[in-house]
Amino acid sequence: MRISFAATSIPKSGYVALFVAEGGKLGPAAAALDKAAGGAVSHAMKSADFTGKAGALLTVPGPKGLSVTEVAIIGLGKPKDMTALTVRDAGGKALARARGKQGAPLSFIVDPVKSTKLSEADLAANLAAGASLSAYRHTPYKTEKLESVAAPKRLSVQSGAAAAARKAHANLGAMVEGVCLARDLVNEPPNKLFPKSFAAKAKQLQKLGVKVEVLGEAQMAKLGMGALLGVGQGSPQESQLVVMQWNGAAKSKDPIAFVGKGICFDTGGISLKPSAGMGEMKMDMGGAAAVTGLMHTLATRKAKVNAIGVLALAENMPDGNAQRPSDVVTAMSGKTIEVNNTDAEGRLVLCDALWYTQDRFKPALMIDLATLTGAIIIALAHEYAGVFTNQDKIADQLHKAGQASGDRTWQLPIGPEFTKMLKSQTADLSNISGGRGAGSITAACFLQEFVNDVPWAHIDIAGTAWRNDSRATCPPGGTGFGVQLLDRFVSDNYEG
Ligand code: BES
Ligand code: MN
Ligand code: ZN
Repeated sequence: MRISFAATSIPKSGYVALFVAEGGKLGPAAAALDKAAGGAVSHAMKSADFTGKAGALLTVPGPKGLSVTEVAIIGLGKPKDMTALTVRDAGGKALARARGKQGAPLSFIVDPVKSTKLSEADLAANLAAGASLSAYRHTPYKTEKLESVAAPKRLSVQSGAAAAARKAHANLGAMVEGVCLARDLVNEPPNKLFPKSFAAKAKQLQKLGVKVEVLGEAQMAKLGMGALLGVGQGSPQESQLVVMQWNGAAKSKDPIAFVGKGICFDTGGISLKPSAGMGEMKMDMGGAAAVTGLMHTLATRKAKVNAIGVLALAENMPDGNAQRPSDVVTAMSGKTIEVNNTDAEGRLVLCDALWYTQDRFKPALMIDLATLTGAIIIALAHEYAGVFTNQDKIADQLHKAGQASGDRTWQLPIGPEFTKMLKSQTADLSNISGGRGAGSITAACFLQEFVNDVPWAHIDIAGTAWRNDSRATCPPGGTGFGVQLLDRFVSDNYEG
C-alpha cells in the first residue's frame, strides 16, 4: 500500500474515511465533503445517533453528489482519551472497510481535533501507521491471489498539516516496516525459515547500512559455545549466530545490545513436546525476529544510536545425534550445564549469545527477547511480556515505552532465592529448576548467570509474540512484539 499525504480535497473514487471525536462535529474538510454529498453524511450521523465513540463505525454507501464507493465515519472517542494507539486502531478500522475491494484507493479526510494532546500532524501520521499495520497479511504460500484480503493499492491521507504529517510518518513508517518484517519472519513456516535462511534474511539489512556477520558451527565451536551448539546438535540444519551492527552515533559511544532467541522450530528435542499445537513452535524465533525488525527500523530511520543485534539461531530436534537429558555441556563462559530437559533450550542458546555479546562489545546495556517459558502465559496471558532485570530503572523505562507503544511489559522479580533452584549435582548449573514454581523467573535467573554484571534485562515474549485473536492493527499470527517497544525505548532514552 502506497501512502501519500496531501491537502484536503473531495476524493474522486474508492473508499473514503472521516474521523470524528466524541461530541465533536464534522471539521471543515469533512463538512466540505458532506456539503458535496448534499448533507448525506451529517444526515446519516443524526439518524444513526453517531456520537463519535471510540471504535464506532457508520458507513454511507455511494452518497449522491460524490463519485466515491463509500464514505465511512469512524469514532475517535473522547478527545482527552485519544492517544497514538487509539488513533492507530481507528486507522486500522478504516483500512478494513477497503480491504478486498480490488485494490480500490482509500482516502482519509483528517480534521484537527480540539482538546487532545495529539497534534493534527500526529493524528494524521498515526491514522496512516494504524492503516498500514492493519493492512499486513502473510500470503506468500497462497497460490490463488486472494482478492478478499488484498489491501487498497493507495492510501491518500488528506490533512491541513500534510507536510508535518509526512515528516511525522517517516519515523512511524520505519517502525511499521520493522514490525511487518518481524511478523513475516514469525509467520514463515519452519521448512522455509531455518537458521541459514534466517541469517540470509538478516544479511539483507546490509542494504540499509547495517554491518552483518554470520558465524557457523565451526566458528562457534572455536569460541567454545557448547551450550548453543548442543541445542542444534539433533538437527541437520546448521546453527548460526548473526551479529548486526548499526552505528548511528559517535564511535566513542558505548553500544546497546539486543539479543534474540531464534529457535526456528522447537520440538522439545528428546524431551519431546506433545503433538497437539506443536506447530505453533515455529514462533520460537520471535525474539530473533523482533531484534531483526528493530535493527531494520533503527537503520531505516537513521537512529542516533550505536546498536548491536545478535541472533542465536538453531533448530531443536530429536534424532540419534541429539543431546540427551543429563548431558553436560560447557558454555562459552566456562560454566558447565547439566541439560536435564532438552526442551529448556532457549536459555542454552541465549547463555552463549549473551556471554559473547558482553565479552565482545562491552555494551552499556544488554536486552534479550525470548519466547522462553510457557509459565509467562500463566502469569500474564497474552497481554504483557515479562521483564526481569538486574537494574530496576531499565524495567521502568521499558514499562513506559510499553504503555506508549502498545507492546506492554510487566516486571517480575529475580534473586538468589530463585537462582539456587538451578543446582545440579554434576555440573555448575542445571538448565531446569528442581522446584515446580516460578518457571519464568528461574529461567531468567539462569540467563543472569551469563551477563557478567552488565546492565541487562530479559523480556519473556512467549505470550505476546504470537496471538490467535485478531485486533484492529494486527491479524492473527506473529505480532512483531518487541519492535515498537524497543524502538520507543531507544528513542526515549538513548538518542539524546
Ligand atoms: N519455546 C518454549 C516456551 C514457549 C511455550 C513459547 C509456549 C511459546 C509458547 C520453551 O523452549 C520451552 O519449551 N519451555 C519449557 C521450559 C521447561 C522445560 C522448564 C516450558 O515452558 O514448558
Ligand atoms: Mn523448548
Ligand atoms: Zn523454545
